[in-house]
Amino acid sequence: MSVALIILAAGQGSRMNSALPKVLHPIAGAPMLHHAIAAGNTIKPDHVIVVAGVGADQVTASAKSFDATVQVVLQHEQLGTGHATAMTRETLKDFDGLAIVLFGDTPFISSNTLQALVQSSADVTVLGFEPVDPARYGRLIMNDDQLERIVEFKDATDAERAIGLCNSGVLAAPAPILFDLIEALNTDNAQGEYYLTDLPYLARTKGLNVAVVTCDAAETLGINSRAELAAADAHFQTATRNNMMESGVTLIAPDTVYFSLDTVIGRDAFIEPNVVFGPHVTVDSGATIRAFSHLEGCHISKGSIVGPFARLRKGTQLSEDVRIGNFVEVKNATLSTGAKVNHLSYIGDASIGEKANIGAGTITCNYDGVMKHHTKIGSHAFIGSSTMLVAPISIGDEAMTGSGSVITSDVEAGALALARARQTTKSGMARKLFQKLRSIKAKQTKGE
Ligand code: UD1
Ligand code: MG
Repeated sequence: MSVALIILAAGQGSRMNSALPKVLHPIAGAPMLHHAIAAGNTIKPDHVIVVAGVGADQVTASAKSFDATVQVVLQHEQLGTGHATAMTRETLKDFDGLAIVLFGDTPFISSNTLQALVQSSADVTVLGFEPVDPARYGRLIMNDDQLERIVEFKDATDAERAIGLCNSGVLAAPAPILFDLIEALNTDNAQGEYYLTDLPYLARTKGLNVAVVTCDAAETLGINSRAELAAADAHFQTATRNNMMESGVTLIAPDTVYFSLDTVIGRDAFIEPNVVFGPHVTVDSGATIRAFSHLEGCHISKGSIVGPFARLRKGTQLSEDVRIGNFVEVKNATLSTGAKVNHLSYIGDASIGEKANIGAGTITCNYDGVMKHHTKIGSHAFIGSSTMLVAPISIGDEAMTGSGSVITSDVEAGALALARARQTTKSGMARKLFQKLRSIKAKQTKGE
């Protein structure tokens, strides 16, 4: 059956108390909306339409950056979930397949649950769930296996509020039926909005079948406040840790490892405690990430070891068997097979050749205050400890720099560059100096 997903994302999200549109608040490094689109895409829909309103430019850019095939329609005034759904009528005017309405603030629906909605034979199918605390969710009023109506928390009586079966917001109906029913919505309710939740009641009055499919409460976690955002993130982390371990990744202290929506880690990778995977990180099979490392926008190949206490930033590419040690920061740099940066260094805007060894305290001085410049280090080069490489600069294959050098001109292959003051040693001078200082101190103490 052909399917169109309608993702409602136009609301202000006033309970977030934020200048950022609610659906752009991040969960695991990615906007909530990306999670919602990713969840919907698992059933390979024919259309995905996002309804944007508050912060529409930002929401549109964010949706398209995640999935260029997503269509965006605008809801200029936020008159309710029913009104938001009606905004897609024009886009779907020739579509007679199943329309499924999802909420941008309910991003964890599983593929199986969406499939259950696709397979439902009812005219209208609502996704319900039974949370431990039904809180402010809408309640489902059943009559045998038919859903009679949905009552919003604000409009519910005490008896209705005592019902545990809640509305997830997700609703499915063939597009022609959906738009037909939406025509009949009104704003006669506590919030003065066009509620999508009035659809089941309208459907029943027309003698249509209205069924409920239920799912696990974790899938329908609605995010309306910062506390719910934190709870959603925690839920995502727990699920991802379990998925990672099932797919063969070792996490020796899973509760301390933080993942992003798009983190990809290969089988038999080994992750020590307290590691943060920011957005866009891929780790190949058999790599090791040691404790207290922070990674984002990077790729780590097989056999490489990162950390402890390493920071890998955007644009970092580690080939096989690279070593990045403690207190090393790497940004926008490519390190070839077997290269080592083991201690206390900053490598930014650089390419480092095979088996090059970068000594402790080396810094690529990549920024002149206005522009960024590149550093190239050849294969098997040996950069002495505490070398300052003033970019743009190139160090040839098998070249060497002396410790403490400030290198400002290119070094040819095989050459040794020394750029530091020559040492002078004065015999007996230290002892004389100590004696002099001690006698000064003795005189001062007497005088006190
Ligand atoms: C909604 C449901 C409630 C359900 C709950 C589940 C309605 C009327 N209520 O309440 O029954 O239990 O979700 O989480 O549907 N939106 C628009 N345009 C609007 C209004 C809202 O696009 O004019 C979008 C919001 O951006 C949001 C979604 O629709 O993504 C839901 O809106 P929200 O205000 O969060 O509804 P809830 O009060 O959570
Ligand atoms: Mg909500």
